[in-house]
Order: sequence, then structure tokens, then C-alpha cells
Amino acid sequence: MRAIEVIAAKRDGEELPAETLAEFVLAYTRDDVADYQMAAFLMAGYLNGFTRAEAVALTAAMVASGEELDLSRLAGPTVDKHSTGGVGDGTTLVVAPLAAELGMQVVKLSGRGLGHTGGTLDKLDAIPGMRTELSGDELIAQVESIGLAVCAQTADLVPADKAMYGLRDVTATVDDVALIASSIMSKKLAGGAHAIQLDVKTGSGAFMKALDGARELAELCVALGREHGRATGALITDMSQPLADAVGNASEVREAIEVLRGERSGRFADLCVALVGHMAALSGVAPDAGRGTEMARAALEGGTGLERFRRFVEAQGGEPRIVEDPSLLPGAPVCHEVRAVGGGWLETVDAEAIGRAAAAIGAGRQRKDDVIDLGVGIDFLAAIGDELDAGGVVARVMARDEAAAEAAGREVLAALTWSEARVDAPPLIHEVI
Ligand code: URA
Repeated sequence: MRAIEVIAAKRDGEELPAETLAEFVLAYTRDDVADYQMAAFLMAGYLNGFTRAEAVALTAAMVASGEELDLSRLAGPTVDKHSTGGVGDGTTLVVAPLAAELGMQVVKLSGRGLGHTGGTLDKLDAIPGMRTELSGDELIAQVESIGLAVCAQTADLVPADKAMYGLRDVTATVDDVALIASSIMSKKLAGGAHAIQLDVKTGSGAFMKALDGARELAELCVALGREHGRATGALITDMSQPLADAVGNASEVREAIEVLRGERSGRFADLCVALVGHMAALSGVAPDAGRGTEMARAALEGGTGLERFRRFVEAQGGEPRIVEDPSLLPGAPVCHEVRAVGGGWLETVDAEAIGRAAAAIGAGRQRKDDVIDLGVGIDFLAAIGDELDAGGVVARVMARDEAAAEAAGREVLAALTWSEARVDAPPLIHEVI
């Protein structure tokens, strides 16, 4: 294989054979293909598109670029879930313990937030003492004993994705459906779980703002998973507003604990229950997603998920007393209320702008090496379809100082539009794939 010929073929719109793609990706991982050649290839693919066969081959090559977790020691059923990223989207904190309660073995490899989206590892960092770097042996032993582990992907899993994602980020080639799907699915496949549940977000706070794009991504991810012999399903879920009230790190952990305690209902809790229900069906724990959802709801209402969460925190070195006393989590000195100016029915929310406002006060990163302030965040209290009077509280900003809190408050208000007529709340789940 000559790299220049592969790039030229992609530039000229040819479909590349699987072996050629595999050789190209593996050569890149060995440094035998240069960054500038991979960048040219990615741009050619971005402009001309990848066929489904190419996406399958690309995914397989990326998996083959590194190690794969061997979960054969686990009795199963092993499950993993993945959200394409959103705002106030801490579902893993509730889903993983509830799924374990239903008898699934949850092997969840998570990431960090970047830009306006949050990341599970950052949320877990808010728990004093919590470790998210586990070796393969530690992870498997923990799943065997308590049914779940949530940790960072090790460096030897899918090194090709790490390098290619870095290039895509700086060459304007991130938002291609085949490249996103192969990036996501190569990591999920290398993670080894038999069942993979995807939560593909759509709306103002999602990667894929429009439903069509989200559907295309969901269908391709599901096809890639099934092609590789995994039970894979996707929900396309609403991200036209923050999912949970809390947008932050410690605050999202606090909200997850309240849901597990049965103290909070609403969209976030409902989506967690639905995801567990679909995971139960995929993994054979329930005959179908409807029954799985009933089982998940019963586990949530029975309160046993909370104890499972406590054991998970303890197993990964975290302070288990946060479950009884969430005030042990980091906080912020300033709490600033954001009030509606004119009032009316809340019509649209720019969820990405809310995520960016939270990131700007320290809850997220502008750059990969930024340090997160775990105690700050925005509690977004209104929802699309709510009617508020002028002066009604829309949000609370928890910040380090008044100036930062007020600036974030202004950004929150600028992210909203209001209607004088009644507005319907959007559906939580748009489609099941
Ligand atoms: N998440 C990933 O893991 N990869 C992408 O390309 C985009 C989002």
C-alpha cells in the first residue's frame, strides 16, 4: 500500500477495499503514515463521504490498532452504554447502578467533557477520593464483585482513534457521520461488552442538532455494532434543553443521588429508567424494553440502586458518605438567582449556550488541559413549556465570585426565547433504533 495512492483514490471518490483501509490505519498507528497524509485522507473522505462498507472496515481497523478488553471471565450479560454528549447529561451515574441491580454487568468506559458537553469522568472526580483509572484486571474484578465499574479508557485501547480524533479536531473533519460513528463504535467494541446501548442526542445542545443527522448517526452506529456481533440499540433523545436541572460536576452527582433516593422525578429520571429498560432487553435480562423499563422503575422506587451506587463509589476509592450527606461534595461560595425578565411560556433553550456558560465559570474546559472547578455550575430550573411570570426564577448559578455568576446569568437569559401562547414540552425520546 502506498499512502499517496490511498489518498488519491479517496480524493477521486473511489470506494476503498477493507484491506487497504486496514493497512492505511495500521500504518498510521505505527507512524508509517504521516499526520499530514492522514489529515489529507480524512478531508478527502469528509468531502466525498464514506460508504457503509468503508465505515465497517474503518471501525474494524481502528479496533485492531490496539488491545481489546477480554471480558470472557465475566459470567455476563455484559453491557455498556454511550451518550453522544449533551448538557446536564449525567445518566451513567443512575443507569449503571440500576442496570447492575437488574443483574447486568456494566463495563462502562467513559470520557471527559470538552466544550459545552460534560463528561462522566469529570463528574466522578467531584467525589472525594474517587479513582477513574482502573487496570483491566481491577475493572473485571470490580464488575465481578459489585456488577459495575465506570472508568477511563486505557491508552492501549484504540490508539488510532486517539490520534485521528486529535487530527480531526484541528482539521475541521469532526462532524462526519461515518467518522463519528467509527470513532464511537471502535471504542465501544474494544471495550468488550456484549450489549451496547447508545443514547444519540438531538437538539440545540447536541452534536447532531437536527433529527435527520441524529438518525443517520444512530443507524450507522447500530449497524457497526451488529456487524461486529454485538447486540446494539439506540435511543434518539431530546437535547433541546439541559436534560437534568444540574449542569456542572458535583451538582450533577448530587442530583443523581437525589434521583436514586427517589426524591426527584422528571425527564432525567425518566430517561435513566428508559435506558436501563432498553439495556435489559438488549442483554436478555428482560423480554422487551417495555418490561425492562418496568423492572428499572421498580428498582429505582425500591431504593436499592442507591446502595449499589454507594458500593461503586467505595470500590473505586471514593467517599461513600456522600450518599447520606451530599454536602461533602465540593460547592461554590456564590449562589446567584437568574430571573425571567418578561415572562411567558418558555419556547426554546439554546442548551449549547447554557453548557458554554457553565464551562466559562469553570465547570468545563475551553482547552483539553484546563483544570475544572468541580463545585461550580448552573441549575437550570425552567423547562420548555413552563409558564413563568416576570421575576420568576429560571436558574441558579453557583460560582466563585459575583461577577462570574452575573455574567453567566446574562448568558442564560440570552439563551432563552419566550412565547405569549402556550408551548408544548418536547418529547423525551424521539425514536428507538
Ligand atoms: N465522540 C467520539 O468518541 N468521537 C467522535 O468522533 C465524536 C464524538
